[in-house]
Amino acid sequence: MSETVGVVGAGTMGHGIAQVAAHAGYEVVMRDVAQEFLARGMTAIDKSLQRDVDKGRLSKEEKRALMGRIRTTTDIGALSEAFIVIEAVTEDLRVKTELFASLDEVTKSDSILASNTSSISITRLGAVTRRADKVIGMHFMNPVPVMKLVEIIRGAATSSETFEKTRALADKLGKVPLECQDSPGFVSNRVLMPMINEAIFALYEGVATRESIDGIMKLGMNHPMGPLALADFIGLDVCLAIMNVLHDGFGDSKYRPCPLLKRYVDAGWLGKKMGRGFYEY
Ligand SMILES: NC(=O)c1ccc[n+]([C@@H]2O[C@H](COP(=O)([O-])OP(=O)(O)OC[C@H]3O[C@@H](n4cnc5c(N)ncnc54)[C@H](O)[C@@H]3O)[C@@H](O)[C@H]2O)c1
Repeated sequence: MSETVGVVGAGTMGHGIAQVAAHAGYEVVMRDVAQEFLARGMTAIDKSLQRDVDKGRLSKEEKRALMGRIRTTTDIGALSEAFIVIEAVTEDLRVKTELFASLDEVTKSDSILASNTSSISITRLGAVTRRADKVIGMHFMNPVPVMKLVEIIRGAATSSETFEKTRALADKLGKVPLECQDSPGFVSNRVLMPMINEAIFALYEGVATRESIDGIMKLGMNHPMGPLALADFIGLDVCLAIMNVLHDGFGDSKYRPCPLLKRYVDAGWLGKKMGRGFYEY
């Protein structure tokens, strides 16, 4: 019997993580708060795998077996057998701290509790458990089945053993794990988000049109997507939340979110998911 990976949250990231874990041969238990979110996550996995079948990268039988390794539940107690639980719920400190305290109660005492947070302190999540040495950041990129990187973040108390086990899991999932310390935005968002924010300032100040800003970065810097299109893809609410974490965390005005970003979020123009952001979809 293969080992079990627990995933909490069946949204954009959670179902992607469940898919790659099942693909690597693990049994997966995916937990969300309501059946409809689990069903939506399973439909997204089905669609993603069907594309692989259509392109001849996966057989129908492999797809069926892979999906059969993913069990869905609303019961947090079902995560008790997992050797690692990867949390991918809403980016909200209160939601995540409450969840980590509960996971500490229901999982085996030697299980690793990993968070896919984009910006919340791993050290703070560890502090609400009795096993801060086994709490770690495992930051996958979107879309999970496609993107190679997993940023692995050590909290203040994370042990080397936890780090090594987590790195080994990322390897088994076919990802490239790269290490960093717990610091606001880690590395990925500390470097990416100020660039996106600066592109929004350039638009706000009328330095160039959205097409020119994105075109300059694509053609001049070889970026596959321009920063404004990328912001729409990530979600403008998510971009604003991360800029606020950088601003609060470092107390440095260079991280202040652009007023235009705030205005778009206030208007509900959150990017691709809402049909409108810096572009219309
Ligand atoms: N979307 C991205 O591009 C991206 C990239 C990297 C990291 N992240 C991070 O991944 C995490 C999840 O983001 P997402 O985009 O998948 O969000 P999402 O909104 O698509 O999904 C979140 C899911 O968590 C569920 N949930 C909320 N509270 C829960 C609880 N207590 N127990 C179980 N399920 C619960 C929600 O019902 C929802 O289905 C966040 O921390 C985010 O910062 C997102």
